[in-house]
Order: sequence, then structure tokens, then C-alpha cells
Amino acid sequence: MDRQLSRRRFLALGGASAGAVLLAACSGSKSSERIAATAAEVGAREQQRAASSGAVRTFDVAAREYELDLAGRVVKTRGYGSTVPGPEVRVRAGDTLELRLQNQLREPTTVHWHGLAIRNDMDGVPDMTQLAIKPGESFTYRFVVPDPGTYWFHPHMGLDLDRGMYAPLIVEDPADPGGHDAEAILMFDDWLDGIDGATPEGTFERLKGSGGMGAGGMGGMSGMDHDMGSGGTGMAGMSDWGDVDYPLHLVNGRPPADPVTVTVAPDARVRLRMINAGSDTVYRIAVGRQPMLVTHLDGFPIEPVEVDTVLLSMGERVDATVRVPSGLWPVVALAEGKTGAALAWLRSTDTSASTPEAPSRLAGHDGRLLDPAAARAAAAVAFEPRQPERTVEVDLSGGMMSYNWGIDGRSFDEFRPIEVNQGERVRLRLRNRSMMVHPMHLHGHTFAFAGEGGARKDTVLVRPMESLAIDVVADNPGQWMFHCHNTYHLEAGMATVLSYVQ
Ligand code: C2O
Ligand code: CU
Repeated sequence: MDRQLSRRRFLALGGASAGAVLLAACSGSKSSERIAATAAEVGAREQQRAASSGAVRTFDVAAREYELDLAGRVVKTRGYGSTVPGPEVRVRAGDTLELRLQNQLREPTTVHWHGLAIRNDMDGVPDMTQLAIKPGESFTYRFVVPDPGTYWFHPHMGLDLDRGMYAPLIVEDPADPGGHDAEAILMFDDWLDGIDGATPEGTFERLKGSGGMGAGGMGGMSGMDHDMGSGGTGMAGMSDWGDVDYPLHLVNGRPPADPVTVTVAPDARVRLRMINAGSDTVYRIAVGRQPMLVTHLDGFPIEPVEVDTVLLSMGERVDATVRVPSGLWPVVALAEGKTGAALAWLRSTDTSASTPEAPSRLAGHDGRLLDPAAARAAAAVAFEPRQPERTVEVDLSGGMMSYNWGIDGRSFDEFRPIEVNQGERVRLRLRNRSMMVHPMHLHGHTFAFAGEGGARKDTVLVRPMESLAIDVVADNPGQWMFHCHNTYHLEAGMATVLSYVQ
């Protein structure tokens, strides 16, 4: 409630129909004029993008409650349409995406287009960039899609991120050099909704109440070896990597007992567009005995690098090309720091054998690990070398015991915005002052690792007590959330706003 009120105070969106909204009342900030989602600057920036515009692509999606069959276990959840993931949205860079979202839920919702540098008033943050879409109502999102790559969309309401509400958004690159014969989207997700009565809300309450000391349990669902309580979903305890022990890990909505199979011609090179749609799980992913040629991070190209495994944190995407020799090859995504894994198979068309027992760990999992900070941006997307005008320290704070995750010691209820002027380059030094990993995500921008030629990203994993610097080019006016992509940390208030002012 408090949070809702302070968001409203900050944004003053309610009732504002058009024009710049003056916002000087935010506590602790300079009395400068914020460029709100409804400001003229947002429209002007969109005009520049529209200059390159291609076709208009229209989609109709219903947010609804439905029953999902997880290898024979039927759960009730919320999703887009009636599948997990929801229907794929595929457009080309420069197209105008027009998607009508019909809210058939009993709760309000919004859609956030994760990773896209679009106009601020389409960003899907309730009370900040739009009013939430009420039950029974619809809202049409319409914006120019600027950059090719692998993206996804999801709601930005409460804990719905830990349900089945997500779908891939693929932006094709008219100039893609290719280098592959086929492609497949793999969306990884940690699942608890509806399993033995578990809900995201109940899990959040338990996290706040338990101090993360391993309350609750799933009765051996995923071979957990610590204390089992009764009912609900277990807490992972003191792991650096996550708070919640999930009963299931899915690839494209399917648990390991009923895995998805991607079938391609023998020896084909398949581009895997891998997306972590999970809420509290970082996945360590490897494929059969094959190395992976990583070509894109968060949709943006890098100088390709060959590795054996990648760590994919919540919100992140990695595109990698792998060869599929004759046979059946497992894709195993281990829940890092936890037990359990997600599974998919790659199969060549000349193989008729049924899938064997899944291996629990592949040699590749202990092989060469992708280091995003060491990757080089492809020349076409590298920031031009230039010193940032300013450096801002951002402390990632909080702990498991009081579950008080925040930024600079503040929860979102009382956040202090990071103020920027259009055209600036700002370095954010992220200092993790906690004992947990935090995948930090910035809306509306693809920043770069600081230093010449750093890879472009919109979500970056910051390890316990680690410090890392990212450079943001302020070229997309508006009010943009910057937050931890752990759903439960976000709900606890681990968020602030990159706020354009003038
Ligand atoms: Cu996928 Cu606010 O984020
Ligand atoms: Cu976090």
C-alpha cells in the first residue's frame, strides 16, 4: 500500500492525460523537472525510431487463469493464452509492434518488454509508466522495436513473475550473418505455483517470516537433502544463489519427466536462444559433449566465444550455436547452488531411439565457463570509447534474515532515484554488500560493461560482495526501473529508478 502511494506521488500519472508532468515532490531529490512517461520528450524520441519503421505487426494476447499439465500433475496458474511459455511474438527490427493485452484475470496486470529500448509509456511499470490494466479491460501496447535480438515479456505486478506469465519476443535482424541452420528457443523456469498448494504469495510470506532458515519443504520432490517441514515450498536456506528450493525446473513449460525435444538434421548447427524466466534460480547450462559458440548476450552480438557452459541468471539471455551430430544430446540446466535441474533434448532426424535416462551432470558443466565481463561487444554495437561524465555508487543491500533487500539501504517505498540528463554517459558502480547474488536489470537501455569494447547487457549478475561497473548512455528519456530480477527481492523492494530530469 505504501509503495503504491509513493509510486503515485512520484509519477502523478493518475488523471494526467498528456503533456509533461511536473514532479518535484519526491522526497530526497533535487527539485528538478522529471521527464515522465507522458512527456513530449518520450514522443519525440519515438519519432526518431519511427523514421526507420517497417511493418506494423499485430498480436492479441489474453492474460488468463488456466490449468497446466506438468507431466501428469495438473496445476492452476496464470499465463498468456493457455500455454507456458505464452505464444511467441516475432517481429523484425524497425517494425511497429502492436499487441492488445486482454486482462481476463481477477487481478490487475501490465506487460513489460524485457530488454527493449522502447518508448517509456509502453514499458509496463504500474503507476510509473501506465496505470495497471484492470480485470476485464484491455490495453494496446504500440511501439517501434529498435534492436534485433532475443527478448521476452512478462507482467510487472506483484509475484506474477513466478507464475506462467511469460513469453519469448524475438526480434529478427535483417542483417543477421547467420552461421546456423536452425534455431530453437529454450525458456528455463523454476516452478512452484500450484504444487502441493504452494503459491508465490505464500512463499514470499514464508521468506519474510522464516529468516531463510529452511522452513517448509517439498517432501523430497527434487531430492533435497536438508530439513523437510510440512506443506509449501522449501527455502534453500543459506545458499548464496537462491532463497527457494523449487520442486520443478522447466524448459518451455515442461518438467524433466516430460522434456521438450528439438529435432534438426544430422550435423546441423542450431542456434539456441536461451532465456531464464525463473524467479530465484541461476542455471548452469551445458549441452551433450558439444562446446557452445556464444554469439549474443541479452540480444546484443559479441565477438563469438567458445565455451562449455554458461551461467544464466534471471532475466538474462544467451544465444549460442551448437552442433547436433547424429544422436540424442541432452541440454541440462543445473539449478546453481541448489538441487534439481531443467532438461531438454536435441535430436537428429536420423535417430529414432527413445530418450535415455537423463544424465544429472555433464562434463561440460565443469568446463570453460562464459565470463560476460570478459566478452567483447561486436564492433557494430560497442559504445564509442569515451569517459563517463559521472560515476554513481549503487549499493545492493539487505540480507536473508530480515529479508530487507534494497538499494543503498532503502526499499522501493522510499527510493532515491538515480538522476540523469539526456545525452549523458553515467557509470554505475554496483557494489554487492550482501551474501547473495543479484541479477540487476535496467529497463529501457542496454548498458555496457565499463571499459573499452565491453559487452552490452540489460541484466547483469552481481555476486556476493562483488563490485562491478556498467556504463549507461542516457538516450531514452523517461522513468526507468532499475531492480534485482529475483522476483522475491523485487517484491521486498530491491528497486530504484533511473530518472531523466531536465
Ligand atoms: Cu524483466 Cu523489471 O523486468
Ligand atoms: Cu536480488
